[in-house]
Amino acid sequence: MSQTFDVVVIGAGPGGYIAAVRAAQLGLKTACIEGWANPKGELALGGTCLNVGCIPSKALLATSEEFEKANHHLDEHGISVAGVKIDVGRMQARKDAIVGKMTKGVEFLFKKNKITWVKGFGKLVANGDLYTVEVTLGDRKESVQAKHVIVATGSKARQLPNVPVDNQAICDNEGALAFGTVPKRLGVIGAGVIGLELGSVWRRLGAEVTILEALPEFLSPCDEAVQKEAWKAFTKEQGLEIRLGVKIEKVSTRKNSAVVIEYTDDKGLAQKLECDKLVVSVGRVPNTDGLGATNVGLKVDERGFVEVDGQCRTNLPNVWAIGDVVRGPMLAHKAEDEGVMVAELIAGQKPHIDYDCIPWIIYTSPEIAWVGLTEKKAKEKGIAVRTGQFPFAINGRALGTGQTQGFVKIVADAATDRVLGVHIVHAHASDLIQEAVTVMEFKGAAEDIARICHGHPTLSEVMREAALAVDKRSLNS
Ligand code: FAD
Ligand code: NAI
Repeated sequence: MSQTFDVVVIGAGPGGYIAAVRAAQLGLKTACIEGWANPKGELALGGTCLNVGCIPSKALLATSEEFEKANHHLDEHGISVAGVKIDVGRMQARKDAIVGKMTKGVEFLFKKNKITWVKGFGKLVANGDLYTVEVTLGDRKESVQAKHVIVATGSKARQLPNVPVDNQAICDNEGALAFGTVPKRLGVIGAGVIGLELGSVWRRLGAEVTILEALPEFLSPCDEAVQKEAWKAFTKEQGLEIRLGVKIEKVSTRKNSAVVIEYTDDKGLAQKLECDKLVVSVGRVPNTDGLGATNVGLKVDERGFVEVDGQCRTNLPNVWAIGDVVRGPMLAHKAEDEGVMVAELIAGQKPHIDYDCIPWIIYTSPEIAWVGLTEKKAKEKGIAVRTGQFPFAINGRALGTGQTQGFVKIVADAATDRVLGVHIVHAHASDLIQEAVTVMEFKGAAEDIARICHGHPTLSEVMREAALAVDKRSLNS
């Protein structure tokens, strides 16, 4: 006899587990299907984000930043340290412990909210009054039935043809987060978010890092002012070698396990790069292969994304899809918010997500964060804008901590002063961006930010000065 639920969630990443928690909070009998196994072979909740994404990458970024600080930035405070060394094994053990704590935390949440964890991988097999999902774990098969199904199967690393990822010498995000030693020479294909974050980790720990990017433009989704500042910081100051406009031709592994990348550069010349490890980070693709979409007539587009409307409804009644497996940015907080929205829709509530107010953060040093439109995008849409920009270099708090690099730039509608986009480069951009998100959610104006009392001395004063700069009346410059 298969068990029957009000809601079955397929996948326990940040989209799926949060959807399950919210559904259970709302009194719905909920199950979540997940078969992810960690390197020890233990089944683990939390998906890409907790196991091989956001959480482990931020742990390694933090360790490598401390290493960098000890080596290069403490002397300006008059602190001398000698013999700074990195123990990669301990760094990885710390990261693994954080991951373990977080994934066990999700198990706790499931127990607390009486959510049934159905262990294995789910496949839609039949629809009628109820949907039937077959769950496979090794040789074991079972079925569950539910009135509502939430597909939250996430994404996996996109592969390039003729670039065989083995997660030894040639790695995707999983291998790149688990190196046992610092590679002398690290190659990266793709100067996107993963390439820059993980490239920064291993560069700080001593690797020579070369990043090969197909596009001629650096950080194409970012505002031009951010692109310029980030290029200067990463290439000139931190020594990341980034080659733009390349075409990867062939990747092979030598007998001594060195990896050779043959590529054409931006001038059309044939080039070779030899490295000890290669990270391939060229975007991610949705996980819909084993979902059984065709068994029930679930519409999946030509790129493999489940088709949904603005409220994550699929073409099938009572089947929903959220997170990386659907359109929109592949971000954990976007997946979580969609999970909450869908659970509340199922319970008859009227939630809403403003997709224009989803922040992006790249956790490099300095961090890069933005929300809304770039100046260029706003102009392309025919919107006349005014902009205000203010540097951290003359902010008292930034000077005190020594983290003076970067700025806040605000893009406001010239006619209404409404904030359309905010772009930040700074060591603490990830926290600072949230003020901008809040103001934009409330459809606030630059003047609203300028009139809000900001504590002194804080980094947030730069946000206020940038808002004043929109009206050409910064007080401290
Ligand atoms: P996932 O987290 O991918 O989870 C999907 C789950 O579904 C997986 O556990 C999978 O095993 C399971 N599954 C798949 N198919 C089935 C099936 N048939 N049956 C049962 N279960 C199934 N985002 C941020 O916002 N901030 C960051 O700092 C950040 N850092 C990242 C760093 C890296 C290296 C990577 C790779 C990603 C990062 N992301 C970050 C992106 C973030 O991880 C994803 O956007 C997020 O995990 C998507 O959540 P999800 O729930 O949609 O899918
Ligand atoms: P990405 O989309 O950020 O960057 C991929 C880069 O690879 C792009 O610049 C693209 O032009 C380039 N590229 C594509 N094909 C190429 C080729 N053949 N040769 C050379 N370059 C090529 O994807 P990435 O870095 O793999 O990350 C995947 C996703 O995971 C991100 O888009 C983001 O959604 C999420 N993520 C979020 C993080 C965060 O929020 N801080 C951190 C890491 C990942």
